[in-house]
Amino acid sequence: MYRSRLGKNLDKRTLDYVSSISDDSEILQYDIVGSQAHTIMLYENKILNRAEAKKILYALDRLKKEKLDTGSAEDIHELIESQLIKKIGADVGGKMHTARSRNDQVALDIRMKIRDDINTICTCILDLISTLLTQAAKHKTTAMPLYTHLQQAQIGTFSHYLLSYVDVLFRDFERLSAAYGRVNLSPLGAGPAGGTSLPINRNSTAKLLGFSGIVENSIDATGSRDVVAEYAGSIAILMTNLSRIAEDLIIWSTSEFSFVELSDQFSSPSSVMPQKKNPDILELTRGKSAHAIGNLVAILSNLKGLMSGYGRDLQEIKPPVFSSSKIAIAAPVVLSSMFATLKVNGQKMREAADSGYLSALDIAELLVNEGMPFREAHRIVGSLVQMAHHSKKSLKKLTAGEIGSVAKQVDPNKILKIISSVSAGSSLKNRTSLGSAGFSEQKRMIADRRTKISQYQKILARRTARVSGAIQDLYEKTRVIK
Ligand code: ARG
Repeated sequence: MYRSRLGKNLDKRTLDYVSSISDDSEILQYDIVGSQAHTIMLYENKILNRAEAKKILYALDRLKKEKLDTGSAEDIHELIESQLIKKIGADVGGKMHTARSRNDQVALDIRMKIRDDINTICTCILDLISTLLTQAAKHKTTAMPLYTHLQQAQIGTFSHYLLSYVDVLFRDFERLSAAYGRVNLSPLGAGPAGGTSLPINRNSTAKLLGFSGIVENSIDATGSRDVVAEYAGSIAILMTNLSRIAEDLIIWSTSEFSFVELSDQFSSPSSVMPQKKNPDILELTRGKSAHAIGNLVAILSNLKGLMSGYGRDLQEIKPPVFSSSKIAIAAPVVLSSMFATLKVNGQKMREAADSGYLSALDIAELLVNEGMPFREAHRIVGSLVQMAHHSKKSLKKLTAGEIGSVAKQVDPNKILKIISSVSAGSSLKNRTSLGSAGFSEQKRMIADRRTKISQYQKILARRTARVSGAIQDLYEKTRVIK
């Protein structure tokens, strides 16, 4: 439709190469709503008369409900405009694209899509957090080993582990919300690169579409995609976080650990080994996170050598960003259902916590309470662990004589008494430092995060209602004009 400057049409193969029409199904509805807002603004600023606006708005409404034949259109913008002209003629239909360009149009569509996707993903994140909190409340006293270097480190609680990801996911929510503030600005009316001489009102289209303002500079509005990269970056981080959760559960569901068991509906069988119960969903979370990271890299690579202003390269940013959205909407939902049905084997966790030398630091700290310098306590307990390990017994089984051989200045019976007083329960009762694995901290953190989740739910509901309210008002306006 735009090729009057050029003598010839694209051949079929080249058209396929150039076209973004198949990816554009993701922004079709946004493109139409954006065109409705643009039309209302043109009418309100006397660039279109009422009859013209009415005709265009009516036709756009009809297009929303139709299955469009893509024909030879290069993208959704060309397709919608050409279909509109087909319906109402070029005299009026040909006026819709006044004072805008496909460059501000596509930037608008992407922002509208990402804006909705952020809200959807944030809803999914809060659902997952809520499931983690429910499980955490059930496992406030479920003792388990904590690991560093995948070696047993300290006695912990399963709720403490779950709460660590509650906080990580709150940050994912916050990161996406910060990106939302920068996404939720309208580029519409920026034109191809430098604006227009026609008397448009950019703030009015922004308001009609529920944006909190405009991307002012018209080069920036049409040619920048840093906020898209920021969004894809937030998704890549979110997916990396979910991938680490997946990795934990994959390890903990092995027969060797058996700390957790995935419910049958979230496991896969083997086609050949009848005994298998594979954690495919978790593995795919790990696998899909690679996609999310790749998508971010694709976007940044696209941008880094691009001159300012719109370049057609920018079209190639759409598939990775849409892919990231799809992954980030699905992953938290699946993980949440998986966590809700997860069987936690508290006994196995407890056995593992009791079996090693995880109380070593707790014992050293009890010696510190007796006035011993920490370095000396560390040396003594370290030697006792070495001794116990070599004689293949627990610390509790050491004799006063054995203890005396490494702790010369202290009464060995006193140390023996301390060692035998220590259990997973006593350690977790004594562990009261802020944010620690101790029992009292679990209670406090769960209550605190519950308050936080309801605050975030309110913020999200307000944000979502602002957009849907504006779009509702816009429909109302089109109805009045029609
Ligand atoms: N299909 C294009 C895209 O997705 C739309 C903008 C085309 N603009 C242009 N000047 N060729 O980016």
